[in-house]
Amino acid sequence: MPPRDLARVLDALPDGAVVIDASGSVELLSAEASRILGLSRDAARGRAVERLAGADHAVARLARAALGGGGTSLESSCPVAQRFGPALVVEVGAAPLFDDTGALCGAVVTLRDRTLQQELSHAVSEREQLEAFGRIAAGIAHEVKNPLGGIRGAGELLALRAADGKTREAAELIVREADRISALVDDLMVFARGDALRLSPMNVHVVLDDVLDLLAHDPVGARCRVERRYDPSLPEIHADADRLVQAFLNLARNALQAMEERGGTLVIATRMTLGHRLAGNDGEPSPTLLIEFRDDGPGIDPDLLDRLGTPFLTTRPGGTGLGIALARHWIARHGGTLRLESEPGNGTIARVGLPLRRTSPRAAS
Ligand SMILES: Nc1ncnc2c1ncn2[C@@H]1O[C@H](COP(=O)(O)OP(=O)(O)O)[C@@H](O)[C@H]1O
Ligand SMILES: [Mg+2]
Repeated sequence: MPPRDLARVLDALPDGAVVIDASGSVELLSAEASRILGLSRDAARGRAVERLAGADHAVARLARAALGGGGTSLESSCPVAQRFGPALVVEVGAAPLFDDTGALCGAVVTLRDRTLQQELSHAVSEREQLEAFGRIAAGIAHEVKNPLGGIRGAGELLALRAADGKTREAAELIVREADRISALVDDLMVFARGDALRLSPMNVHVVLDDVLDLLAHDPVGARCRVERRYDPSLPEIHADADRLVQAFLNLARNALQAMEERGGTLVIATRMTLGHRLAGNDGEPSPTLLIEFRDDGPGIDPDLLDRLGTPFLTTRPGGTGLGIALARHWIARHGGTLRLESEPGNGTIARVGLPLRRTSPRAAS
């Protein structure tokens, strides 16, 4: 067999490969590695490996270890920051290279994009979670809502017939609290009902402007600035504007609440991305609208971040802990996704992806 061009072989592999010489400079970057790292091959060639993804990144660390005689190593799920779009989850491996005499002459670093697998497993567990909420909500509605009507009626009657002020106050308290619980159950019922979406062609920027109008007079944002970074070339989508307002309002309000005390900037940014190839029904890249709500508030503790979206999980006095769960519910009904990213001290990003062509059967109702 004739020897083949090494670069072409590496380009054909589904994993990315970076070939490094003994001094730690990049000799060759395969097509997939160039995509993952967001670097052109020409820009990467001859550069120190530390400068590809940062000296602390697994790519540089494992390359150094391989060049230092550390043998072959593998590190799973390292985030690789992208200049555009969300960070990728990448499995990084490295192995030393030897010449004919057995002397170390470089290293090869491999990069495997695990983002899609992680997103799919997130999506499955989110869907299961939302379905479980639906069943719980339906159960609560049945067991709580009906007797609540009776309790409220009895409270009203007691208030009418109360002989003294104290009894009337107690009876009115029963009515007020019954109303509060009833409103909460109504919120929770959203998860149980399969309400059809009222889809119509709409511009997502109009929806975002509506949300900002609603928040303009809310004292929560008094110390905050709002910056709109809209991509004017975004196409219209078929969506239920009222439901999206509900979802976005929760995300924007959360951001403002996080900055309420110290002030800050809420950036709302939109753009188009191509969803992962396998995500579409037909194996084609699926165009996706990205809508980001970025704040520079205190951020979210990693422990809490993992559990967000569980109904009633709140750290705010007076919070219901339903905002993120409701937002996720309506976005999922549109076949979209909601991701929260946060670094304590560095603010939070709520990232919404809405497919231009809907593929989720849940959204079809
Ligand atoms: N942008 C944000 N910055 C910091 N913390 C946030 C942000 N968004 C949500 N959170 C945290 O997530 C919790 C749950 O949010 P949510 O589901 O909207 O319920 P609620 O706002 O009623 O507490 C909040 O109590 C808060 O601790
Ligand atoms: Mg909230």
